[in-house]
Amino acid sequence: MATPTASTKLLLSDLASTVQNVPSNYIRPINDRPNLTQVEVSDASSIPLIDLDGLYGPRHSEIIQQIGLACQHDGFFQVRNHGVPEKTINIMLNIARRFFKLPESERLKSYSDEPSKTTRLSTSFNVKTEKVANWRDFLRLHCYPLERYVHEWPTNPPSFREDVAEYCTSIRGLVLRLLEAISESLGLQRDYIDKSLGKHAQHMALNYYPPCPQPELTYGLPGHTDPNLITILLQDDVPGLQVLRNDKWVAVNPIPNTFIINIGDQMQVLSNDRYKSVLHRAVVNCNKERISIPTFYCPSPDALIGPAKELIDHNHPAAYTDFTCAEYHEKFWKRRVYIYMHLIINVDNKSVGDRIDSNPFVIPENLTARHIILKKNSD
Ligand code: OGA
Ligand code: NI
Repeated sequence: MATPTASTKLLLSDLASTVQNVPSNYIRPINDRPNLTQVEVSDASSIPLIDLDGLYGPRHSEIIQQIGLACQHDGFFQVRNHGVPEKTINIMLNIARRFFKLPESERLKSYSDEPSKTTRLSTSFNVKTEKVANWRDFLRLHCYPLERYVHEWPTNPPSFREDVAEYCTSIRGLVLRLLEAISESLGLQRDYIDKSLGKHAQHMALNYYPPCPQPELTYGLPGHTDPNLITILLQDDVPGLQVLRNDKWVAVNPIPNTFIINIGDQMQVLSNDRYKSVLHRAVVNCNKERISIPTFYCPSPDALIGPAKELIDHNHPAAYTDFTCAEYHEKFWKRRVYIYMHLIINVDNKSVGDRIDSNPFVIPENLTARHIILKKNSD
């Protein structure tokens, strides 16, 4: 059968169910496919599951220690008894499902391919610059401070703003608790990270991965690290997330009422490489649609990010120069590099400032996602 070619549909949701083969613009080169048969399935020992019950009581130091070990060795962990009500989680998953089921004309009211827009529905990753598309639609929202952004959000389904606002506020509470715990686990003052983020920023994505006729040929999202500080992922009951561990992809199977937490690049920087921002990806499947809802927590654009002074000493020199998030984003967009899912290139012993000013930054054609940006001393 002939391979279907690029569609006239803007959104994948309106194309996926009409094709029997993956259209050619979604097909990855042979050496860049998910290789699904090689993937390991997670068990309790592969991605730590941390029970936060007792964080402010008798289990405080035990939990801090577990979080510290997970950030250091895994870059990923799961949490339960996290304080976000089950009802809030279910309402969030439901509203996301209902949003993606709206008629095409209704959804398209939120459509934009302009990455700088603070609220937008789009597809793949960055349709303006990418060569191969990803099997995903997504709604991006900024959500802190709420009152600045909520009026931009969709009004359909009618309870959208209220439901999502409640979720965002509850998740922010969890993030703040985790940031305190992570500060403590690094031996820093409990409010160290909170204070270093300026006014704070919070974004989220509602990811929708339709069933895919040939999941072995494409990705929902190819391997990447998250460029923000910390990510809180809510997923429905359909597997799809995979994490790189000891050079092998491990599938993280969903556990109800559990969030997956991962360290982002900025936390790696702040911890002076003690904590790891780890590669992960989303794969798709033939049978079931999948929804995942990451919350990305970040410093405000003017905040200066760099290794905590307390973590720099003779044996641990600063691995990064200080930078503002605004600087980071601007420089990287100028070089046409992904931000959200940026490509991180080894930076031959130069700070990002040196590199950007003196060196054209060329992305190798076949690169999907690599480490590491802003690094002073390459490994
Ligand atoms: C992301 C991400 C994973 C998933 O959006 O950055 O890694 O399972 N998502 O959707
Ligand atoms: Ni991610």
